[in-house]
Amino acid sequence: MTAIIQSQDNENVVWHSHNIDKAYRSDQKKQKPCVMWFTGLSGAGKSTVAGALENRLAELGYHTYLLDGDNVRHGLCRDLGFSSEDRRENIRRIGEVAKLMADAGLIVLTAFISPHREERQLVRELLPEGEFLEVFVDTPLGECEKRDPKGLYKKARAGEIKQFTGIDSEYQAPEHPEIHLQAGDKSVTELVELSLCSLKERQIIR
Ligand SMILES: Nc1ncnc2c1ncn2[C@@H]1O[C@H](COP(=O)(O)OP(=O)(O)OP(=O)(O)O)[C@@H](O)[C@H]1O
Ligand SMILES: [Mg+2]
Repeated sequence: MTAIIQSQDNENVVWHSHNIDKAYRSDQKKQKPCVMWFTGLSGAGKSTVAGALENRLAELGYHTYLLDGDNVRHGLCRDLGFSSEDRRENIRRIGEVAKLMADAGLIVLTAFISPHREERQLVRELLPEGEFLEVFVDTPLGECEKRDPKGLYKKARAGEIKQFTGIDSEYQAPEHPEIHLQAGDKSVTELVELSLCSLKERQIIR
């Protein structure tokens, strides 16, 4: 089947639907695709928890892909800087890639600070209802600053990094996250178990 898409730049771009579709690919993998969008301050534990959850899902036989932080800036988004326009475009591209991966039937995990509600909403709107799971890794600033594994808070406090989230740039906490991990005083194992329970409740996994 084909459909004419009235795209912004080209009125004559035609969408071609193929036989092997998202439903087929997800059935094959015995899972429901979704995008688990981990958000939280630097040092909150997004990469750690998303990585440990991905390990656990792999052990259970599920098919995943983890898109993590700065990695995308080496390729997909290497032309982008850190102006608000570029940050928005960075998140938009990541959202589009996550959407393609969910279309491939995968459970996609992303780990970006993504401090603005508006940018997270933009990604939510790219995906069908129920496929975007906002995961708030809610670790108090004091704890993140104590951990400071990259030494970034120290630099931000010394004025060597400007516009650092939580210090001189706002982090807008999710208002209604699908999964709220109060992560400051819980072990990674506990946080992984809480996330797995939520995936089961939503019938993403069995
Ligand atoms: N639940 C936890 N309990 C104790 N330490 C943790 C926990 N989760 C993560 N950590 C530790 O906190 C530090 C920061 O974790 P991580 O790198 O996952 O943060 P992040 O949210 O991905 O940060 P960034 O946005 O800078 O990439 C690491 O040293 C990690 O080992
Ligand atoms: Mg990280």
